[in-house]
Amino acid sequence: MALVRIRREGRVAVLTLDRPEKLNALSTALERDLALALEAEEVRSAGGVVLAGAGRAFSAGADVHELRDQTPEAIWSYYRETGAVYERVAALPQPTVAAVHGYCLGGGLELALACDLRVADETAVFGFPEVGLGILPSSGGTVRLVRAVGPARAKELLLLRDRFDARAAERAGLVSAVVPAGEAETRAIEMASRLAELPPLAAAVTKAAVDAVATASHEAALLIERLAYGMLAGTEEHERATAAFEDRQSRGGG
Ligand code: COA
Repeated sequence: MALVRIRREGRVAVLTLDRPEKLNALSTALERDLALALEAEEVRSAGGVVLAGAGRAFSAGADVHELRDQTPEAIWSYYRETGAVYERVAALPQPTVAAVHGYCLGGGLELALACDLRVADETAVFGFPEVGLGILPSSGGTVRLVRAVGPARAKELLLLRDRFDARAAERAGLVSAVVPAGEAETRAIEMASRLAELPPLAAAVTKAAVDAVATASHEAALLIERLAYGMLAGTEEHERATAAFEDRQSRGGG
């Protein structure tokens, strides 16, 4: 049975990690099913994607039983195989929203960080246990955390390893909205539905540009921005949106 369920809510594809008896621990089997789900037609044709977890947690992180006795060779090939799924989530052209409730630890938090936005309910518990296990977040989480909160705060979260709640995550800029218990998925779907209304190429190019400019020099970043503008300004979706705006203005609307 697949460890990731797919359903559509209008223009939004909802992917639910479905290994609740293990708090959606990210085994290689689950990562494989998530990668397969990303290729499904329901996802490819969606305008937005929500990632959620079944049961009482978003995800308690990497499957600790799979972390032992790994050779360097096995680890290296892991990143080319199922371990590549975090970057594939990050590279989706559609806007993505993680709906977090319960535990969101380690690899679970890395997966949430690979989404564009995060909504958390009041039961959410975030944290990075990795360093205490003698490792570090290595599914893009260290990279994304530093970019999101800066090196000093990242060291605090990675080394002190204190768990933090939805409000603290919001204050740190890791979460866009905090909602009452049980409402994360509904709010994430609402948010993704709004994002699905955007001109799709503009949304996809903006996502990619934000990621690229985060590490580019000032000059390269400006060039990326201008080249992306040059590309989008020539699209039919821009033409249509501008014409619709002018039409509304000429009718005296807002
Ligand atoms: N990998 C594999 N299995 C996990 C897991 C993980 N990361 N997290 C939880 N599970 C399993 C437990 O082994 C347990 O399975 P069992 O019922 O067959 O024994 C089941 O999920 C429920 O977890 P349990 O520990 O009983 O729930 P809890 O509410 O008492 O504690 C946690 C929840 C998240 C605090 C605890 O499970 C935990 O610390 N998990 C590991 C978190 C972690 O270190 N993640 C990062 C790895 S790099």
